[in-house]
Amino acid sequence: MLTLREDLGRLAVAALRARFADATFPDTLPVDASQKADLQSSAAMQLARSLKKPPREIADVIAAAFAAHPAVARSEVAGAGFVNVALHDAWVAATVGACTALSDRGKGRVAVIDYSSPNVAKPMHIGHIRSTILGEALKRVLRAKGYTVVADNHLGDWGTQFGKLLVAYKRWLDAAEFEAHPVAELLRLYVKYTDEEKRERAAMGATAKGDEEEDAAVEKEAPPILRDARAELVKLQRGDDENVRLWKLFIDVSMREFDRVYKRLDVSFDVVLGESFYNDRLAGTVDRLLTEGIAEHSEGAVVVTFEKARDGEAMPPLLVRKADGGFLYGSTDVATVLYREERWQPARVLYVTDERQQLHFRQFFAAARRLGVTTPLEHVWFGLMRLPEGTFSTRDGNVIGLEALLDEAERRALDVARQCSPDMPDDEAREVARKVGIGAVKYNDLSRDRTTLVTFTWDKALALTGNTAPYLQYAHARICSMLRKAAEQGFEAGAVGALEPAERALAMRLLGYDEAVDEVARTARPHLLCDYLYELATAFSSFYNAHPVLKAEAASRASRLRLTVLTVTVLREGLALLGIEAPERM
Ligand code: ARG
Repeated sequence: MLTLREDLGRLAVAALRARFADATFPDTLPVDASQKADLQSSAAMQLARSLKKPPREIADVIAAAFAAHPAVARSEVAGAGFVNVALHDAWVAATVGACTALSDRGKGRVAVIDYSSPNVAKPMHIGHIRSTILGEALKRVLRAKGYTVVADNHLGDWGTQFGKLLVAYKRWLDAAEFEAHPVAELLRLYVKYTDEEKRERAAMGATAKGDEEEDAAVEKEAPPILRDARAELVKLQRGDDENVRLWKLFIDVSMREFDRVYKRLDVSFDVVLGESFYNDRLAGTVDRLLTEGIAEHSEGAVVVTFEKARDGEAMPPLLVRKADGGFLYGSTDVATVLYREERWQPARVLYVTDERQQLHFRQFFAAARRLGVTTPLEHVWFGLMRLPEGTFSTRDGNVIGLEALLDEAERRALDVARQCSPDMPDDEAREVARKVGIGAVKYNDLSRDRTTLVTFTWDKALALTGNTAPYLQYAHARICSMLRKAAEQGFEAGAVGALEPAERALAMRLLGYDEAVDEVARTARPHLLCDYLYELATAFSSFYNAHPVLKAEAASRASRLRLTVLTVTVLREGLALLGIEAPERM
């Protein structure tokens, strides 16, 4: 239907050009899905002002243009200047069979997606889960639309935290703990370091500072432990054997832990190029910023400043080199985007992080544009997830381990599986519980507009009714069961024939699949696909309540079985695009 909408849009433009010869028009006009009709255009109202004509007069031209298309049964002007379109049943019936074929608009284009990107030596906590889950869904969706996707895990494997960790490791390591639970021990060390620094600061009568503030102003009166941390960091940066060895060890043990989670979440990357990969490009990048007059010296540091007229927005300066010569998160991002342009010539680069980094990305995008980066850069930001317990931060040690969350999801989903089918053998029930539990956690993230704050509750995530993964998975499993019965009786799906209203409504929904996926690819908002799948499942249930399938006479049965097969296929493939598996029995 995406193609039909585009065709209609072009027809409208051609007719308008013929009628209003002096005016200029875009190549196409939007034609939308609608509640009131199969399709609807509100273009006449938007064009009225520039054409200086009454909207209904413009709408008449558009309606007549639409009527020329063979798929269109009726097109009428309504209200202030809407054009409502009704499609021929025969067109719907003949076209619906192709609804699972997605148009490959991304063909020949590369998209780099920077997601997950946890920080080494800190456990991956639930705050990273949204980036991982959203990024993975976007990877799958863009790939399905024909893009060549580079999934890049931009690991936080470089920076000030390593100086601190090196100090803590050398002072307080519990070797047995490190052997047994390396990342937990690294976290304990990091927390202990933070407490110690806080204590020293308090003793000096100073207040605690965040990493960024510390970076911004290298204080003259740093607490002794922080001075040690900086010295360890400098040693690491100069290639000191021992510190490099430990740094690699920290990365290694962290990566092993992250990989365990990625495996459970069925998440994979094409490249893992962490911040350290760009280390030897940082000096050159900052020099380039300076020689091109994009960055300037300021109190010993190097900063990029922004103006409304030039950068579209006045923002605080982006610090790219500290007074002590150290580089920062922003310097790395600039070096990284230059590398990505050179290596992949992407058509888009998507960065999936939480909302707190919006300013950082606006600053860095503006700096990159001034360096001549032309690739569209998109900050795909999301609201923070709230657990009932409140938010968490690694540094406070109030960590909800992601693995613990997944364990609990599977445990609770086992109850759901048992509730659906009490007689299912244990092995199978556990496998269903795995798919439902992991699916519920993912869908809970994906189904809300990413810019909203998500409060996680088990009851909502695992509910068998409403817009949830278990509901869609259960709908999928029940349809599979119906299709098994059909197969047992030797019934086969045939051509889609005459359409009763509930059948037609289902067919129209099915025809919306490509659009839903396309919209997710364009806007990087996976919840639109969730909404679509939920509406599809609802349309199927109305269809199924209104019409017998297996008990219908042969022609209707074959037609309805076809609609059923298409529905189950779209449900399964749509969920797969979101990274969610659909069991065949539940
Ligand atoms: N490691 C960062 C964090 O956990 C996220 C990195 C996002 N990607 C980027 N290119 N800045 O906050």
